[in-house]
Amino acid sequence: MNAQPSRRPLLALKGVTQTYRLARQSLFAARPILTVLDGIDFDVGPGEAVGLVGESGSGKTTLTRMLTGVERPQRGEVSFDGEDVWTMDAAERARFRRAVQVVLQNPRSSLDPRMRIGTSLLEPLRSLGVRGDHAARVHQVLDQVGLSRTALERFPHEFSGGQLQRIAIARALMPNPRVLIADEPVSALDVSIQAQVINLMQDLVHDLGLSLVFIAHDLSVVAYTTSRVSVMSAGRIVEVGRPLDLFTAPRAEATQSLVGAVLRVETGLAGHALD
Ligand SMILES: Nc1ncnc2c1ncn2[C@@H]1O[C@H](COP(=O)(O)OP(=O)(O)O)[C@@H](O)[C@H]1O
Ligand SMILES: [Mg+2]
Repeated sequence: MNAQPSRRPLLALKGVTQTYRLARQSLFAARPILTVLDGIDFDVGPGEAVGLVGESGSGKTTLTRMLTGVERPQRGEVSFDGEDVWTMDAAERARFRRAVQVVLQNPRSSLDPRMRIGTSLLEPLRSLGVRGDHAARVHQVLDQVGLSRTALERFPHEFSGGQLQRIAIARALMPNPRVLIADEPVSALDVSIQAQVINLMQDLVHDLGLSLVFIAHDLSVVAYTTSRVSVMSAGRIVEVGRPLDLFTAPRAEATQSLVGAVLRVETGLAGHALD
C-alpha cells in the first residue's frame, strides 16, 4: 500500500524515558523513583493509524503527554515532521501544537459544563490564535462528525455519552490537526455506543487523511481501526505487530493476557475486526 521506500514518521518518540520521584515513605528515607516510561520508541506516519494497548498504569497516558509536548522527557527525543519538539522555535512550536490534538477518555470532564457546545468548539481556535472563518469551520466539522447545527446552542448535560464523545472529537478537529491522539476514547462508553465512535474515527482517518494514535486497554477496540499496534507493559513497549498477528500469535506475556479479554465490541462493528 505504501509506495515510498522509506517512510518518514510524522510524530515520533525515540528512547524516551521518564521517571517520577514519589513521596518519602518515612522521614529519613530517600524518595523512591518510579520509572514510568523506559526507553520508548514509538511513531506514527502521515495518514497512518496505529494502536497502543496496555493494562491500566502501564504508562499510556504519560506517553501521550510526551507526544503532545506538554511534558518534557528526562531522556530521549520527541520529534514532529523531523524536528525536535523541544528545540523548535516559537513558530514551529505553534504549528506543532495545532497539528497534534487529543481526545480524552471522559468527554464529561473534558468539556466545560457551563459552556454551550458552540463556544467549546471555538475555544481551541482562540487559544491557538487561529484566524479565519470560524463559523464556517464549525459547520464543516459538525458535518464531519455527524452532528446537527442545533447542537451548538446546547449544553453538555443535554447529550448522551456517545454524542458528547462525538463533540469532543469535533473539538479536536477544529484546528485542522494532522495527528489525532485518542486516549481511551471509548472506555467510558457503553459497548453498543463504542462501535459508533470507533467507526467514526475510522471514517475520519480515511476521509481526512489524518494520522491516528488510538489508545486502549483492550486490543479488540484498536484492532478494527489500526494497522500496527504497540503493546505496553510497565513502561516498555514489549511487542509491536499487526492486530491479527497479535491476536493469533501473541508473543509477549502482556499481549497474551490482553488477548484473553477480547472480541467484545466486534459484533457492533460495521465490518470485520480482523480483515
Ligand atoms: N506526575 C506523576 N507523578 C507520579 N507518578 C505518576 C505521574 N503520572 C503518572 N504517574 C504514574 O505513572 C504510572 C503510569 O500512569 P499512566 O501513564 O497514567 O498509565 P495508563 O494511562 O497506562 O493507565 C502510574 O503508576 C501512575 O501512577
Ligand atoms: Mg491512561
